[in-house]
Amino acid sequence: MSTPRITGKARLAGVLGHPVAHSLSPVLHNYWLERLGVDGAYVPLPVAPDQFVTAVRGLQAAGFRGANVTIPHKEAAFAIADEVAPMARVAGSVNTLVFGEDGRIRGSSTDGFGFLASLEAEGIDIGAVRDRGAALLLGAGGAARSIAAALMERGFSVIVTNRTATRARELVETLSQAWRDHAAGAMPALSTLPWDHPAGVPADVSLLVNTTSLGMAGGPDASWAPDLTGAADHLIVADIVYVPCETPLLEAAATRGLTAIGGLGMLLHQARPGFRAWFGAEAEVDAATVAYVSAVLKR
Ligand SMILES: NC(=O)c1ccc[n+]([C@@H]2O[C@H](COP(=O)([O-])OP(=O)(O)OC[C@H]3O[C@@H](n4cnc5c(N)ncnc54)[C@H](OP(=O)(O)O)[C@@H]3O)[C@@H](O)[C@H]2O)c1
Repeated sequence: MSTPRITGKARLAGVLGHPVAHSLSPVLHNYWLERLGVDGAYVPLPVAPDQFVTAVRGLQAAGFRGANVTIPHKEAAFAIADEVAPMARVAGSVNTLVFGEDGRIRGSSTDGFGFLASLEAEGIDIGAVRDRGAALLLGAGGAARSIAAALMERGFSVIVTNRTATRARELVETLSQAWRDHAAGAMPALSTLPWDHPAGVPADVSLLVNTTSLGMAGGPDASWAPDLTGAADHLIVADIVYVPCETPLLEAAATRGLTAIGGLGMLLHQARPGFRAWFGAEAEVDAATVAYVSAVLKR
């Protein structure tokens, strides 16, 4: 008989959501645990909003190392954390909770890290992209905020454009205030652009990021792609939508000869900091991981 992987000493973590059945996190973390031979388990935790605090306290009492948090618990996770990392404060979001042995809960937001790591994994020099121009974010929702905060931390000027212009302006105001309250160093430039800007992507933009649900299978417009004709030849185009892996935006970028990065890498990389904190091992996003999760997504 083979050696059991999960023993009485197993390290435990999970994902709190409502619903949580769609979450890829159990698939990904258990894949890494199995591959690395770690004595640990990661479980889905369907928890209704009014049970969130009870559930978190129960997980702490049961010896869990921590948890990921997804919709609708991200604000409650922010509130329950005893310590929140500065960039999570700027992002206004917590998706990873680590339970300390001293009983304290540390919260962080790993989406922005995951986004930048997914670019670096494709060989992109983030500093060089920043030095060539601004980042243009399409969308002003939760993902846009996390990515904008991470880009600001790396010194990018950030331009936000959104179908609902008031939300773009609100995002810029909230980020500016949060940066002043929680971040160190000079604040990079933050501005907005009309959604129906006639010239398409301005030539002084070096990074275009779609954070809307446009282009997503089953989303508001699965065939959507913006006009890239006026864009600079060095423009990097990133789409955080990951279903399908090849969105119409990425296809348009490739047709135009631009570097195009899909959203699956962000999804995988954002999981690494939690895995390290809970299970004490380094998870790798390699070709085998991408192939495994892609196959699950296609089922
Ligand atoms: N790769 C990853 O790891 C990752 C992580 C998080 C999210 N995502 C993906 O990112 C997308 C956004 O997630 P989120 O959590 O930020 O969602 P959200 O907070 O609900 O924001 C949705 C955004 O999409 C825009 N939008 C929706 N329908 C539109 C339409 N018909 N035309 C133009 N804009 C439209 C919204 O604009 P309005 O303000 O005008 O409504 C808003 O800016 C989703 O596709 C999600 O799957 C990927």
